[in-house]
Amino acid sequence: MADSLFERLGGTEGITTITKDIIQRHLVNPDIKVRFTEGSNIDFTQLEQRVIEFFTVGSGGPGEYSGRDMATAHAHMNINERELISGMNDILGAVKAYGVTDETYNDVLAILYSLKDEVMFK
Ligand code: HEM
Repeated sequence: MADSLFERLGGTEGITTITKDIIQRHLVNPDIKVRFTEGSNIDFTQLEQRVIEFFTVGSGGPGEYSGRDMATAHAHMNINERELISGMNDILGAVKAYGVTDETYNDVLAILYSLKDEVMFK
């Protein structure tokens, strides 16, 4: 059988590396960094842990996701299309930098896109 997406993303080690990179990219991304800085009061240790879990479970890996669903996590942020695309670019940039095949990259893109209505305008 073909490798699961979890395995193709490098398993727990790869997903941890990718998640740390995503957060670093968000923090310097002029389109969205304000969401993570000014008065946001974010617990970055918890955020990193939850994003790792979300990626792991969503790609067919082990364990459980302990965070909120996407609509609840992004509630009252009123994230627009520009911000969504920009945030997705950070995620996809980190995935590409980790060094995955085009197929794996496109699998992540499809999952992110499928979540857009749960993230935007909440
Ligand atoms: C498909 C795209 C996205 C996915 C899969 C995603 C995923 C997540 C996950 C798993 C969490 C943790 C939830 C929790 O702590 O319970 C989270 C939190 C967060 N996301 Fe996203 N996100 C996406 C897009 C965005 C965008 C575009 C922005 C900003 C413009 C954003 C801003 C945030 C912020 C600020 C938090 C922290 C909320 C808090 O701790 O109070 N997200 N996201």
